[in-house]
Amino acid sequence: TSPASAAAATDNGKVQRLTVFGAGLMGAGIAQIGAQNGLKVILSDVTDKALENGLNIITKSLSRVAKKQSPDDVEGFTSQILKNIETTTDAGKAVQDADLVVEAIIESLKVKRDLFGFLDTKAKESCIFATNTSSLSVKEIAEACGQERQDKFAGLHFFNPVPAMKLVEIIRTPQTSTETYEALREVTLRMGKAPVTCNDTPGFIVNRLLVPYLLEAIRMVERGDATPEDIDTAMELGAGYPMGPFKLLDFVGLDTTSYISQGWRDKAAEGAISEHLVQPISLLDKLVKEGKLGRKSGQGFYEVSGESTSNHH
Ligand code: NAI
Repeated sequence: TSPASAAAATDNGKVQRLTVFGAGLMGAGIAQIGAQNGLKVILSDVTDKALENGLNIITKSLSRVAKKQSPDDVEGFTSQILKNIETTTDAGKAVQDADLVVEAIIESLKVKRDLFGFLDTKAKESCIFATNTSSLSVKEIAEACGQERQDKFAGLHFFNPVPAMKLVEIIRTPQTSTETYEALREVTLRMGKAPVTCNDTPGFIVNRLLVPYLLEAIRMVERGDATPEDIDTAMELGAGYPMGPFKLLDFVGLDTTSYISQGWRDKAAEGAISEHLVQPISLLDKLVKEGKLGRKSGQGFYEVSGESTSNHH
């Protein structure tokens, strides 16, 4: 591609057309903030039902924004932004004009690689590919694409709930180019986010520090050193954290936490993270086996009953 045609495709290198894969919790949020900030967004998923689910998430969230920003015309505000979002189950079509693809489908290396391998054959040469993975290696996902795409591949890790959480981690593989990195920084800023940068390492910044801390909190309870309530109170009032580790664990999901630490045990074998940080914990395994997954199952370290939560682990 000549510099001139590359510039024309993305309006001076700036991302205008965003395609999001996965219309779940994260994908819907990413599509929403793109549309809210003037990008032309295509949201793609495997079924119409999933797309409908995504649009429902977006509509609900937008009407919350509208009640604050445009209380006299909630519907007008919402429909104006929804006009920036198209949906399709046709992955090839979804990607043909995209400047940027953000993938937020299920956390499976194989499924992500299959998708990107296909998209690589359908997208423009200049299109940037980004994955929202939390726990997989960005490089291993990127390698599903041809050599030509490697400098245009990065991680773009958003946080839940996307419209409310300011942070985005931009993950550079050894092959991600400076142009790609700068374009991602620019578009995340335009989406109202605060980007930080990290190498392609387990957990990037936030989860690398947070997950071992959460696991250590569970070990304290398992040893009988302190109760979940007292540990939460201690970290909230003593460390100034907005939420103690057990409230956060219930929010994130115990199954998700267990899954991440399992994945990292394999990485530990390669020396990417210290093994003792991710040692298995019987109490965590037991709760997951019993279906006590946190807020989503109604019970984790705390029982969720309407407005009140009480400890019953
Ligand atoms: P989710 O389960 O809510 O949504 C996943 C969506 O992907 C579903 O609608 C599913 O139908 C769709 N999907 C599956 N295979 C597909 C394919 N081949 N093509 C298109 N769509 C496909 O999942 P969630 O929570 O939104 O997570 C998505 C990704 O974001 C995962 O990689 C996860 O690790 C990551 N992530 C999740 C966070 C969270 O707090 N939930 C935070 C940051 C990242």
